Amino acid sequence: MENKSGRVFFAGAGIIATIALIASGVRSISPVTSAASPRQSAAPVKKASEQFKNIQVLKDLPADQLYPAMHFMATSLGVECVDCHVGVPGSVDGEKDDKQMKLDARAMIKMTMEINKANFNGYNNNRTVTCYTCHRGSRQPVGVPVVAEKDSAGISPVSTSANIPTADQILDKYLQAVGGSGGLQKITTRVQKGKIVSGENQTPFEVYAKAPNKLLLIKHSADADLRTIFDGSSGWLTSANGTVRDMSAEEASAERIDADFSLALDAKKIFGQVRVSASEKIGDREMYTLVGRVPGLAPVRLYFDRQTGMLTRVVRYTDNGLGLMPVQTDYADYRDTNGIKIPFRWTVATPGGRSTTQIEQVEQNVPIDDSKFAKPSPTSPAKR
Ligand code: HEC
Ligand code: HEC
Repeated sequence: MENKSGRVFFAGAGIIATIALIASGVRSISPVTSAASPRQSAAPVKKASEQFKNIQVLKDLPADQLYPAMHFMATSLGVECVDCHVGVPGSVDGEKDDKQMKLDARAMIKMTMEINKANFNGYNNNRTVTCYTCHRGSRQPVGVPVVAEKDSAGISPVSTSANIPTADQILDKYLQAVGGSGGLQKITTRVQKGKIVSGENQTPFEVYAKAPNKLLLIKHSADADLRTIFDGSSGWLTSANGTVRDMSAEEASAERIDADFSLALDAKKIFGQVRVSASEKIGDREMYTLVGRVPGLAPVRLYFDRQTGMLTRVVRYTDNGLGLMPVQTDYADYRDTNGIKIPFRWTVATPGGRSTTQIEQVEQNVPIDDSKFAKPSPTSPAKR
C-alpha cells in the first residue's frame, strides 16, 4: 500500500462506503472490509508501524486495519481525511504532522487506549470506550445535559419484559414462518439473479448457493466480474485486476454465517449462545431482538417481527482496531418460492452509505457442481 497515492487512499476509505452485501435466501454475503482480527490470524500480521512512516501510537495495529481505523475516526467525529491530513480529498499525505487536529487525534487515541486499559479489564477487546462514545459524530463532545425542547420531557417509561418469549421460541416461530424444517430441508440449492442498486449505480449479479453453506457470488461490475466464493470453511475474493485474495479469519467467520443456506434451520447451531435483548421498533413494527455469539466475531444482533416472526434485520460488526463498524442488513418482500419464504429485497447500510439488492429471478433445486465453490485461479485483467 503506497501512502501517497490517491487511488490507494480511496481503496481504504472507499471499500466501506461502497459495501454491497448480497444475501441469498436470508443471508448476506459479508462485506469483507476489515482485515484479520489480531486474535485470529495464524500467520504473522504486518504491523502498521512496519508499513507506514509516521505511526506513533497505532504501532501494533495490523497494517491492513489502518485505513478502516482512519475511516472509523472520521465517521466518529463527522470529519474528512483532509481535516486531519494535508492534501486534497482522495489524496492526502498521511505521514505529515502539519495539522493541529492530527496531533489532537493522536493524543486522543492514546487517551482512549488508556481509558480502556485502566477501566475495563480488556473487556470487549479494548473497544469499550471509542472515539464515538464521546464524539457521537461531532468534533466537540457535549459535556452538559441538553435543555428540554418540550415541556415535561421526563423519562419515558421503560417497556416491561413481560410476555417476551424465550430465544428458542422466537427462533422456532421464525422457522415456522419461513416454511418449517420439513419445507426448508427439501431445498438444497438456489440460484438468484438480480441487481444491486447504490445511488445511481446498478450492478447485475448472480448467486449460487448450496446447502449447507457453499456460496458463489458474481458481481458484474462495469469493468470486471467480481467474485466472492466460500466453500464451507475457506473463502476467496477476486478483484477487478484478476487477483485472488484469501478471506481473513474474521471474514471467514462472518461468511460462515452469511453463507449458511438456511439460517432459520441452523441458527441455534451457529450461535452457540443466544440471548433475548430489549425489544425495539423498526419503523412502526415491533421487533424482538436476539443477540447471538459466534467465536471470533463481535455479537450479532437479529431482529424478528413480533407479529409475523420473520427475520427483519441483522446487524454485524467489523473490527478496525479502534472500534467496531456496524453493517446492517434489512430484509423485505418475503415471497413464497417452492413452499418456503425468501426475501426478494434487502438493504445493506453502514455509517458510510447503503445499497439495495433486488432479486429478479430465483431457481431452486437445480444441480450446482461443487467445483463452482473451489478456490479460483488468478485471471488476466477484466476477463469476464
Ligand atoms: C481525526 C483525525 C484523523 C482523521 C479524520 C484521519 N486521520 Fe489518518 N491519521 C491520523 C493520526 C493521528 C495518524 C497517526 C497515528 C499514529 O501516530 O499512530 C494518522 C495516520 C494516517 C496514515 C499513516 C501515514 C504514515 O505513513 O505514517 C495514513 C495513510 C492515514 N492516516 C490516512 C487517512 C485517511 C485516508 C483518512 C480518511 C479516511 C484519515 N487518515 C483520516 C489522524 C486522522
Ligand atoms: C472520553 C471522551 C473522549 C473520547 C473517548 C475521545 N475524545 Fe476526542 N475529545 C473529547 C473532548 C471532551 C474534546 C474537546 C476538548 C476541548 O474542547 O478542548 C475532544 C476533542 C477532540 C479533537 C479536537 C477537535 C477539534 O475541534 O479540534 C479531536 C481531533 C479528537 N477529540 C479526536 C478523537 C479521536 C480520534 C478519538 C478516538 C481515538 C477521540 N477523540 C476519543 C473527548 C473524547
